[in-house]
This record gives sequence, C-alpha cells and structure tokens, in this order.
Amino acid sequence: MTDVLHAVNVTKRFGGLLAVHDVEFTIPEGAIVSLIGPNGAGKTTFFNIIAGIYDPTAGEIRFRGKRMIARSRRAWLEPLLWVVPALAVALTTVLVGEAGASDIVIALGIFFTVIALMIVMVVGVARPPAYADFLTRFGVFRSARPNDMVVAGLGRTFQNIRLFANMSALDNVLVGMHSRLKATWLDALLSTPRDRREEAEARARAMQLLDLAGLRKRAHETAKNLPYGDQRRLEIARALASNPVLLLLDEPTAGMNPRETADLTKLIGRLRTELGLTILLIEHDMRVVMGISDRVTVLDHGERIAEGTPDEVRRDPKVIEAYLGTPAA
Ligand SMILES: Nc1ncnc2c1ncn2[C@@H]1O[C@H](COP(=O)(O)OP(=O)(O)OP(=O)(O)O)[C@@H](O)[C@H]1O
Ligand SMILES: [Mg+2]
Repeated sequence: MTDVLHAVNVTKRFGGLLAVHDVEFTIPEGAIVSLIGPNGAGKTTFFNIIAGIYDPTAGEIRFRGKRMIARSRRAWLEPLLWVVPALAVALTTVLVGEAGASDIVIALGIFFTVIALMIVMVVGVARPPAYADFLTRFGVFRSARPNDMVVAGLGRTFQNIRLFANMSALDNVLVGMHSRLKATWLDALLSTPRDRREEAEARARAMQLLDLAGLRKRAHETAKNLPYGDQRRLEIARALASNPVLLLLDEPTAGMNPRETADLTKLIGRLRTELGLTILLIEHDMRVVMGISDRVTVLDHGERIAEGTPDEVRRDPKVIEAYLGTPAA
C-alpha cells in the first residue's frame, strides 16, 4: 500500500512551547488512522500543520508523493524573478532608444514593460502548478497554503464547528465545492450553458453528499438552526464537497450523545467503503477509536509515544500511563 501522507520529523514551536516534537507519521491509502492523546498533546496543532495552516518549525509533509509543506526556502528570490521579464523589456527599450528608435517604438517598449509586470503579478498570485515547478528549478520552495492543500486533495473539519451559520445546509456544501468548479466569473456573468450545467451538477452532487450524511431532508434549513449532531455531519458533507482523497476529522463526535456517536461512527466507515476515502481522525471517545481504526498514533506533550493497531496501543504501558490511565472527565 502506498502512503497518502507522510509527515517527516515534524516539529512545531509556539514561542517557548514545543507543541509538536519530531513526529514521524504515515497514513496508508484507504486506511482509517487515529490520532489520540490527552488535552494539549498537540493533535490539533499537528492537523493544522498538515492542512497548511501552520508552518512547521522543522520537518516536512509529503502528500500524495509530493513535498507540500516545509519551511520556505529562498523565498526572497521569487520577487526578484518577477521583475526579470519587465526589466529585460525595459532595458531593451532603453537600448533601442539610445540607438535612435522612433518615439512609437519606445512607447511600445514602455507599454510592454508594464504588460510584462502585470502578467507576472497575475501568475504570481494565481500560482498555477507550472509556476511552482518553475520556481523549484531556482531552488525556491513555498510551503502549501490551506487552499493549495484542498486543491491537492485534502478535506477537513474543525474541532469547533465552523459552518456558514446563516446559509442553508445545501449552500454550505456548495461553497465547499467551489475549488472544483471550472466555470469562470465570465461564464457566471453570461450564464453560459457550461455555467448552468455545472451549477446543476453541483447541486445534484451536493444533494448526494447531504443524503450520505443523513441530511437530505434538512437541505434547505439554515445551518445554525440544525441540531448539533446534524451540524457536525454537515461539516463533514461540506468537507467532502471538494472531493478529497484524505479527510481530516478533528473530534467529530465531540458533544454528541451515544446514539449520534454510533451513527457518526457508521458514517465514517461508509466514507471509506463508499467513497474510497483515507481518513485521519482525532477522537477522544475510545470506543470510536478502537472500533474503527486500522492504526492508532498516540501523542503526549507533542511527542509520539506509541503507534500500532488499536490492540497494541491499548496494551501499551506508556499509553495507559499518559492517557487511558486517567479516566476521561
Ligand atoms: N496558536 C497557538 N499559539 C500558542 N500555543 C498554542 C497554539 N495552538 C496550540 N497551542 C498550544 O499547543 C499545545 C498543543 O495544543 P493542541 O490544540 O494541538 O492540543 P490538542 O492535542 O488538540 O488538545 P485537545 O485535546 O484539547 O484538543 C497546547 O499547549 C496549546 O496551548
Ligand atoms: Mg485539539
């Protein structure tokens, strides 16, 4: 089995606090892997590093075989590369001006200098993959941002629910689909067939995802009016909308009653069997973790203290001491 994600010696420091320390971690394709550990162990911090929210202090994240997240290298070189094309045009203009070229040629030269600057700026902001590859050739590495990770195939939910509270359940999912839509603002403005087709497909897909999450009947309700358990599942439906390969769930059953927890556990299983997803789960409820995970990694004070099958981890004395030994509050 290949690894979807490989975290290599990841460290994150917040000032004097070592939140994640030298953590090595792999997620095999198709697996459900859990990250557990006492409060403050560094689980969410680790998640946020994978999601591109925090830059790691050291180490790197390889995602689908590609180095995506690490400390930036030679970032100063990038703006320099930006001005090179414009500078080349400007210099040529000056040279032909010296050689006695007409005013029109010089005006054109100035015009193209400005155009060159604008094109480079637009490319620099849009950052198409070819641009990143181009930078790599000059030894420039820019760590992936959250939106880059979404495009690369990462979906996530948050420890604290973060829905668009005043939007309908359906619209929440449609927003999550945004990164996969191809129609441009021009298509939307002109309401082209492509735009209308894509819109219809997006709505159908969003309804499918709501259905999977058990929310079909709630599609048109405002998110903030949904019961808590439904909001949690809506977050998952929204995360699925970007068509992720790897889904990160941060304490999805937090605050749920046993019935809702059991339903959600079933849903997580279906995400793997029906959508073929790989899942990384942070979870406090040991019944959920032990019941559903292929592998469990235990963090304590930012360090990985154990890794193995649920049974191995359950029996590990270090884990019992750090985590299971202290009854949950
Ligand atoms: N942005 C931040 N700035 C400073 N310190 C932080 C920041 N985020 C987290 N920490 C600290 O890093 C440590 C790890 O926190 P983290 O939220 O990753 O733990 P956790 O394992 O997710 O805990 P919980 O089970 O309570 O969610 C904690 O001591 C926390 O106070
Ligand atoms: Mg947390």
